[in-house]
Amino acid sequence: MMPVHPPFSPSTRDPPFTLSTSSATYTPGGVITVTVEVVKSSSTEFQGFLLQARSRQGNALLWPVGKFTNIDTSLFTALTCQNMKNSTVSQASAAKKKKVQLTWEAPRNSGSGDIYFSATLVQDYTTFWVQLNSSSLRLDSSGNSAAGVISSSALLFINLLSLSAYC
Ligand SMILES: *[C@@H]1O[C@H](CO)[C@@H](O)[C@H](O)[C@H]1NC(C)=O
Ligand SMILES: *[C@@H]1O[C@H](CO)[C@@H](O)[C@H](O)[C@H]1NC(C)=O
Repeated sequence: MMPVHPPFSPSTRDPPFTLSTSSATYTPGGVITVTVEVVKSSSTEFQGFLLQARSRQGNALLWPVGKFTNIDTSLFTALTCQNMKNSTVSQASAAKKKKVQLTWEAPRNSGSGDIYFSATLVQDYTTFWVQLNSSSLRLDSSGNSAAGVISSSALLFINLLSLSAYC
């Protein structure tokens, strides 16, 4: 998830973005709304992003978990990472944006354990942040908990940039 923008390297400043989820738990096959947005006090906008879920377990760092669903392709680009279709999303255009929201669907088996979302955010060619992580989502495999909230509408805008090769 490292954009190649020589000679620039990832920003070490605090990212002016938040990565949040509709629930602190997830169920096998359940859905979660994931929101990336600029912090309220900031006038920053972003042009590009790359977003995927990852497992907290073992060597799963390199492997995305689950897939995004109902991807509006006018706003987003659905990517195949590690042979997992739609496991990663990126922008569809370089329009400046303050917020993107996506729906993620958990795998039906519970082998991934606790997960988190990780994003790369590109403000412009020279300024980007890598590995902006959400809080962990605990796997709830009790089978009787409510599924996550489904995003009512994808409120979006999106962008270009050469992120797509780097999932
Ligand atoms: C991946 O997303 C695209 C775009 O929304 C959709 O057409 C396709 O059916 C999805 N594939 C899978 C395996 O979810
Ligand atoms: C996000 O999580 C990964 C995996 O634990 C870690 O390597 C990375 O440093 C984290 N990112 C930040 C900004 O802390």
